[in-house]
Amino acid sequence: MDLHVMDLYIKSLIKEAGHIIRNSFVTELIIEAKSDANDLVTNMDKEIEQFFITRIRRDFPGHRVFGEEGLGDVIEDLEGMVWLLDPIDGTMNFIHQKSNFAISLGVYEDGVGKLGYIYDVVNDNLYHAVEGEGAYINDERLAPLTETSLDKSIVGINATWVTPNRYIRHEDSIRLIRDVRGTRSYGSAALELAFLATGRIDAYISMRLSPWDIAGGIIIAREVGAIATNFSGEPANLLKQDTFIAANPSVHSKILNEYIHLK
Ligand code: IPD
Ligand code: CA
Ligand code: CA
Ligand code: CA
Repeated sequence: MDLHVMDLYIKSLIKEAGHIIRNSFVTELIIEAKSDANDLVTNMDKEIEQFFITRIRRDFPGHRVFGEEGLGDVIEDLEGMVWLLDPIDGTMNFIHQKSNFAISLGVYEDGVGKLGYIYDVVNDNLYHAVEGEGAYINDERLAPLTETSLDKSIVGINATWVTPNRYIRHEDSIRLIRDVRGTRSYGSAALELAFLATGRIDAYISMRLSPWDIAGGIIIAREVGAIATNFSGEPANLLKQDTFIAANPSVHSKILNEYIHLK
């Protein structure tokens, strides 16, 4: 199927899913813990993942779906058409704030990002990109990123960076926080990538993200010139959990080389 036809299909699918999520605000959520007491999942995370999988299997037979809640396919390679889906990115925000969460979706063909989507459900902002055709918010084209420097950058980072961890030396986290203009922590990797693409932040770094957190966002961010890698500088990992940095090219390698020294 032509990418533009798929794009129209996916936009309407995502809007429909957003509608289901907004309607759920009046019903009580069933909340469960996964790997630990703060790793939460709700009935809506599963319902929305199932909603996408049912439609994709019906309308795109032969395509595979890799979703966070595990209701899709088990993926060990990116051959053919693969949809990487996070039905609700920012579940903690969804539960506690009823805002600051997003649907995140990336469609890959033989490992190449073709279509990317991040839907900020509550604000009804849909970010999207078709490979090679720029990135958009609500069909308005986003400007390419412009040159900046670290002392003028806002970096998306969360508080775990200043807790003891196996990735970053404590003194380097402190130095990074001091050297940048400001830090922000939105609690949704997908939204942080959307904000990187719009220039609201200049870099986003995380010690551990999964393919579905970043799959849609890196396609969108790439279209405005952002670079996304793991902490070793390799392309972002779309098969396994890994470290992650996406940034304006003027600060990407500086952050990696001067602040992030893997132990
Ligand atoms: C989480 C969010 C959060 C990030 C976590 C992710 P989820 O996704 O993106 O911002 O820090 O690492 O797991 O579980 O809410 O879909
Ligand atoms: Ca989760
Ligand atoms: Ca997520
Ligand atoms: Ca999720």
